[in-house]
Amino acid sequence: MEGQKSGCISPASYDFIIPLRMRILMVCLGNICRSPLADGLLRNKVSEKKLPWFVDSAGTAAYHIGNPPDHRMIQTAKENGIDISGLRARQFTSQDYEDFDRIYVMDQSNYKNVLALANSNADRQKVSLFLDHLYPNEQLEVPDPYYGNQSDFDAVFTLVNEATEALISDLTHE
Ligand code: 4NP
Repeated sequence: MEGQKSGCISPASYDFIIPLRMRILMVCLGNICRSPLADGLLRNKVSEKKLPWFVDSAGTAAYHIGNPPDHRMIQTAKENGIDISGLRARQFTSQDYEDFDRIYVMDQSNYKNVLALANSNADRQKVSLFLDHLYPNEQLEVPDPYYGNQSDFDAVFTLVNEATEALISDLTHE
């Protein structure tokens, strides 16, 4: 074709070829139970589906910075074929508004703490409840299993897994 060059893709045309490029951050309180699970599950599915998404997680609190996920969450994920043992907790900062397109919070308390660091309406619009994709308009929260037992960790795994599927379905059909 006249005027068409081969062998060179500019960054602009790369955006056109991959319109679903997305940077997604999962946020909970400690970044050792719910958000690393959501992070690990989404990374796994994104990799399987070859989606051009970058996934990470953070906590609103500083308690567990540098720590691996809670051993009960690691074990529950492992029993379901997901390895989250390599993740390390970090704290959410206002820089995350620059670095991510979508910020998913596990509960209303996370929502309030994340919004407190927003600098603009554009920042605020990036934030939503993680369960909104699975249960639209119900404002449901992922329960914190930290003080719970194994059945609470199993229930969180099932819920987060379903919510991750719903998120992928919604974002790939936007
Ligand atoms: P997460 O759970 O927010 O799902 O990581 C928690 C982890 C630790 C604590 C609370 C919740 N904590 O109080 O240390």
